Amino acid sequence: MRGCLCVKSHQLLNRVFVHPVCAPAAARWRTPPSRLVHGSSENERPRPSVLKHLTSKIISTGPISVAEYMREVLTNPVTGYYVRNNMLGPDGDFITSPEISQIFGELLGVWIVSEWMGAGRPKRLQLVELGPGKGSLAGDILRVFSQLRSVLNEASVSLHLVEVSAALSLVQAQNLTGNSCQEVDNEDDRVYRRGETASGLPVSWYRRLEDVPEEFSIFVAHEFFDALPIHKFQRTEKGWREVMVDVDPDKPDKLRFVVVPGATLASASLVQADERRHHVEVCAEGGVVVQQLARRIVEDGGAALIADYGHNGTKTDTFRGFKGHQLHDVLAAPGTADLTADVDFSYLRRMAGGGVACVGPVTQRTFLRNMGIDTRMQVLLRSCSDPSTRKQLISSYDMLTNPAKMGDRFHFFSLLHPSRLARPRKQEGLTLEKNRSPAPLPVAGFSELSLS
Ligand SMILES: C[S@@+](CC[C@H](N)C(=O)[O-])C[C@H]1O[C@@H](n2cnc3c(N)ncnc32)[C@H](O)[C@@H]1O
Repeated sequence: MRGCLCVKSHQLLNRVFVHPVCAPAAARWRTPPSRLVHGSSENERPRPSVLKHLTSKIISTGPISVAEYMREVLTNPVTGYYVRNNMLGPDGDFITSPEISQIFGELLGVWIVSEWMGAGRPKRLQLVELGPGKGSLAGDILRVFSQLRSVLNEASVSLHLVEVSAALSLVQAQNLTGNSCQEVDNEDDRVYRRGETASGLPVSWYRRLEDVPEEFSIFVAHEFFDALPIHKFQRTEKGWREVMVDVDPDKPDKLRFVVVPGATLASASLVQADERRHHVEVCAEGGVVVQQLARRIVEDGGAALIADYGHNGTKTDTFRGFKGHQLHDVLAAPGTADLTADVDFSYLRRMAGGGVACVGPVTQRTFLRNMGIDTRMQVLLRSCSDPSTRKQLISSYDMLTNPAKMGDRFHFFSLLHPSRLARPRKQEGLTLEKNRSPAPLPVAGFSELSLS
């Protein structure tokens, strides 16, 4: 078990000029664990070059979209926030479910095995994780795979990590392969590092999803979509207008939001014609990723499990920053804080299209309960006599499932091959009630009956 948590509430610091954008969103649970391995104090180092780079760009070419701002701040290859390796942990900026308790990853491991079985136990299984952080989730999933070796025996399993941060990929390499891996220098190669886990499973690192080989894959994305750039739009008397980032004319070393007077390509194309909200955030990059996942699942088989905080097309202004487990002004000291926005699952569903089957979103509490977290907790508590470990187990269980903490804030959403939800053929000799066909096979986690 990796830590227990205390909970704080925060106030949003976002500010908008020219037109107010909208009311502040609720804070995200990113709170400090009591015990976690963490990195250097680089987190504290000021990064003036990010601000300088952004202000010179804006002064020469005009305001930039929030999406461009977010992309530059988070994933610029030289100065990007994710280039650093210590944002996850007590001395970092936030903590995530896989870092709170190993049970989280174990239950996701069971889900993956269950979907692999539901797909007819294909001979090859690619586990693909998008944005693997420290590699903790993948490590916990692989532990379940080795415990279920007799079930997975017939499959050749490989791990594929899509990670934009060179620094985090080194942490993943250390945690998953003990550094038994090699950098790949060949520019033509889509893989930038290859390694092997202690049990001999091949691990490969990629910068982009499209570089991962196309074959049967189960994709996992935990707190990945919330880190992708969003566009922000404001309803005005003249129609939808894009919110952009500009330099404050009174304070040239400060950034501010502005609503641009004319339509932009994004405001003309990304807002739904029947949109009723007065302010919307659209993560077009997330939409592209979901389209890629959907196409691959339909063509090559497999499934995707997406877990994040989010909503079903109802929220408005959710863009926020986190630094040292506190909310942070998204425009202040860019590059020193995490930037994030709630995932709009209704948008992901729309972008997935009709070819793939979508289930969810369901709350994290529902998903974990359906996956058997209560039983797993009882087993762990029965075999644990140390009072402090018991206390930690209970506290992390509470953090993951309590509706007021992560239980209702985080959601699970899945893309499945359409055959997965097809109604099973009527069995010979089975008499069904008139006008009723057999129910589709339940999907673990999304259905209460799934593991019974
Ligand atoms: C909020 S962290 C979540 C880490 C991990 N999944 C967890 O839950 O602990 C986001 C992860 O996505 C990675 N990331 C962010 N943007 C990315 C992108 N465009 N492509 C690939 N990885 C990205 C970050 O480097 C980091 O590993």
